[in-house]
Amino acid sequence: MTEKKFLISPSILSADFTQLGDQLKQAEDAGADWFHIDVMDGLFVPNISMGPFIVETCRRATELPLDVHLMIEKPERYLGDFASAGADYLTVHIETCPEMGQTQAQIHELGCKAGITLNPATSVERIQPFLNSADLVLVMSVQPGFSGQSFLPEALPKISRIRQMLDEVHPEVMIEVDGGINAKTILDTYQQGARVFVAASAIFKNPDGIQAGLQSLVDQLPA
Ligand code: DX5
Ligand code: ZN
Repeated sequence: MTEKKFLISPSILSADFTQLGDQLKQAEDAGADWFHIDVMDGLFVPNISMGPFIVETCRRATELPLDVHLMIEKPERYLGDFASAGADYLTVHIETCPEMGQTQAQIHELGCKAGITLNPATSVERIQPFLNSADLVLVMSVQPGFSGQSFLPEALPKISRIRQMLDEVHPEVMIEVDGGINAKTILDTYQQGARVFVAASAIFKNPDGIQAGLQSLVDQLPA
């Protein structure tokens, strides 16, 4: 089997929760690679979303990797709960982790992959010391908190800069991009070096359905 050139990680934030299992199945049948679960605490971001219970629900509905994005203060308090719920990737914000090295070690001790992410206003230099121990780097291309926002083009040079930094220390690590990804924006992020694409509204709110939404993203990328 040849290695996939990119991965699609639908964000369930825009799914219809009255039929979550069915929505996951539709996305999986359409070719989803991971599922992205947005955890918000109403403190780090001005919205409250879901916790370990939903991760555990998704774990029972799919065998695909669960990519958990923790938009919460002091995430170290809950890493164990998310790992037990079945998370594969635990991605934490540099803005919430004053002891990022310890947080990454804690994630690894729990048997999960450690993702690191940064807000649009945060400089890439802040994450540089931690790229060596990261398994995934998530670049936010909207202000975290809500789905359905417009892509911020400032994310593009950040992706290419982080790609250069990773190539020096950890070339196999992929860059994930999150926020405003749709059929118009995805290729630019790919060209700068993103390889994992998060999308909520473009997939789950596509008027033609989940499969058409996911396909509309894949169609923009090199086969
Ligand atoms: C924003 C979340 C995103 C969001 C993306 O805080 O981190 O994952 O669900 O939504 P879209 O794809 O609609 O911009
Ligand atoms: Zn997210």
